[in-house]
Amino acid sequence: MKFKIFETYEEASAYSAELLAEVIRTKRDAVLGLATGSSPEGMYKEIIRRYEAGEIDFSQVKSINLDEYVGLTGDHDQSYRYFMDTHLFNHVNINKANTHVPQGVGQDLAALAKAYDELIENLGGIDVQVLGIGANGHIGFNEPEHELHLKTHVAELKPETIEANARFFESRDDVPTKAVTMGIGAILSAKKIILIASGESKAEAVKALEDDFISTHVPATLLKLHADVTVVLDKEAASLLT
Ligand code: F6R
Repeated sequence: MKFKIFETYEEASAYSAELLAEVIRTKRDAVLGLATGSSPEGMYKEIIRRYEAGEIDFSQVKSINLDEYVGLTGDHDQSYRYFMDTHLFNHVNINKANTHVPQGVGQDLAALAKAYDELIENLGGIDVQVLGIGANGHIGFNEPEHELHLKTHVAELKPETIEANARFFESRDDVPTKAVTMGIGAILSAKKIILIASGESKAEAVKALEDDFISTHVPATLLKLHADVTVVLDKEAASLLT
């Protein structure tokens, strides 16, 4: 695991954008595993700037997102499909048909989850997976548990995750309590992983990435099993690292 620490979130975002751009430069039809939330927002802004400057071409790129809230359709302004459209896809020349976000609404979410794993396989795997991290160490919505799922599944969100996500909703009661998320297997099968963390609230979880231990109770520690992970931090998120 490589740690890259920057003075500011903006610098960290620019660095993450460069890592992502590099993957697309090397492989025009790269499969990007993408995340939503505050952590990658700055990176997406920088990616759009680079696209507008003619530096990145998304025409062949494919994307596959980590997760979606159960109960929200893609036109809901807090759905992760909506987030991706408004923060990235609407601003670059990606073919929307090549963008994939799990479906959070359907008769049989288990069947949709299975189909999502098949889709990842059919795409030929993920070239680079972008991740944020929960203050409790979750990645995607693989929350701290005794056992974790390898495959895409419906996850119950922990109270602290619901609390953290409430900032985007009118009230805490509006926050979905479940999400469809890629499992640890698909995340670890990505060829390259970029984990972005910003702010003091992430410092404790980031610290757990530094030592020699892995635990399902801090799911992000499983990333230590992967050979190519870059952890991109601002100085607040890095403040507890030795
Ligand atoms: C989002 C996701 C989550 C977030 C995490 C951090 O697609 O999978 O794991 O990355 O909850 O969220 P932010 O970045 O909003 O602090």
